[in-house]
Amino acid sequence: MSDAPALRAPTGTHDVLGPESARWEGLIATFAQFAYRYGFSLVLTPMFEDVGVFNRGIGEHSDVATKEMYVFEDRGGRRYALRPEGTASVVRAFVQHQPVTPWKAWYVTPAFRYERPQAGRYRQHHQLGVEALGTDDPALDVEVITLAWRFFQALGLRRVRLVINSMGHEECRGRFVAALSAHLAANASRLCDEHREGWRLNPLRLLDCKRDECVAVTAEGPQLPDYLCDDCRAHFARVTEGLAALGVPSTRDPRLVRGFDYYTRTTFEFVADALDGAQNAIGGGGRYDGLAEQLGGPAMSGIGFASGVERLLLALTAEGETTPLVRRTLDVFVVDTTGHDVATTMLDDLRGAGLAADRAYDGRSMKAQMRVADRSGARLAVLVGPREEVSGQVTIRDLRSEEVAPQHVVARHDLVATLTRLLTK
Ligand code: HAM
Repeated sequence: MSDAPALRAPTGTHDVLGPESARWEGLIATFAQFAYRYGFSLVLTPMFEDVGVFNRGIGEHSDVATKEMYVFEDRGGRRYALRPEGTASVVRAFVQHQPVTPWKAWYVTPAFRYERPQAGRYRQHHQLGVEALGTDDPALDVEVITLAWRFFQALGLRRVRLVINSMGHEECRGRFVAALSAHLAANASRLCDEHREGWRLNPLRLLDCKRDECVAVTAEGPQLPDYLCDDCRAHFARVTEGLAALGVPSTRDPRLVRGFDYYTRTTFEFVADALDGAQNAIGGGGRYDGLAEQLGGPAMSGIGFASGVERLLLALTAEGETTPLVRRTLDVFVVDTTGHDVATTMLDDLRGAGLAADRAYDGRSMKAQMRVADRSGARLAVLVGPREEVSGQVTIRDLRSEEVAPQHVVARHDLVATLTRLLTK
């Protein structure tokens, strides 16, 4: 062993290895299937962007942009940021490529935020999400929210609540922010330590502050629903009616404004009651009808949501759902003691027939190979030694049977058919 200290993954990040990674695969595959069913196609965008994409997109005064973004200069002196979320990049790609609308895209991506790491809060987390651009039809809001809701149900989550609100379009939002600012200015001395001075930078953030002082001041102040124009009110009503018609239960939270500046009209969050308060949002999203324009594109409505993979898995575990949605265990383990590597061709046949099969290496003893076979989790072992090689037969052993070494001897040319039959039993 070398004397060099072992290097570890950075604070707030984690490695995911098997068998836990099978839960990730299952989650991503299920989401991909849902996205496909709802008409979304996969979009891939770079993990880093010009820092302006995020500063203009999520707002340069948002907490994420000011305190959490990983910003760096590359060797050519350009200022980039690691993506803290998916929406701004996807909308940047939309503006750049101008695909036919409505454009519906889904993604799975790491996201980077310099947060104080704790359970459910990481410096690199992973998001599954969708974005749809090209219409402000409330039917699309209903569709996006329903996709998320049905996805959570398909995963087996039962204790999830949907909270929803409308921030109004730019004008309603602007009038509300002006009224809120006036109220905060008059009551600034009563705000919490962090916000007494800092509230001006982003007054909407005060609605997110959980400290008693800020909650009390904002509760007495102007309320968002009172500032919605008739159109925004009607839009929101159609969204909530549409959800109700599909049996998707939602509760209105007039304080739900979410952390990014791009949101307009519908905003929503999915809360997992099985998780601790501060990290119980398993997904969130909303409309961003001004974002494409903000990034230099045409005026174009859009809506989307994203869900944290780690939080979804934590919520599933907390609800007792730990079985991966895909099976990632081996079918067969080949134990080859012939001394001249029969396993290679045998495995090629088995894998070619669609079986998940593996082996031991380095010409180890029968006993050593059987130990690896037992550890591998495979259902069946195929044993081939010098005697079997001569007779053209192999031995199949059931590795999970309670009986002592129940086994079948079959002709080599019947192997695939016999294994397939035994595996479907
Ligand atoms: P967000 O609410 O910031 O929204 O993040 C989406 C989800 O990612 C959260 O609900 C949570 O499950 C997970 N998440 C966020 N930060 C962390 C973290 N530090 N550690 C672990 N999980 C985390 C967005 O990012 C928007 N782009 C969503 C959206 C899409 N809006 C419209 N379209």
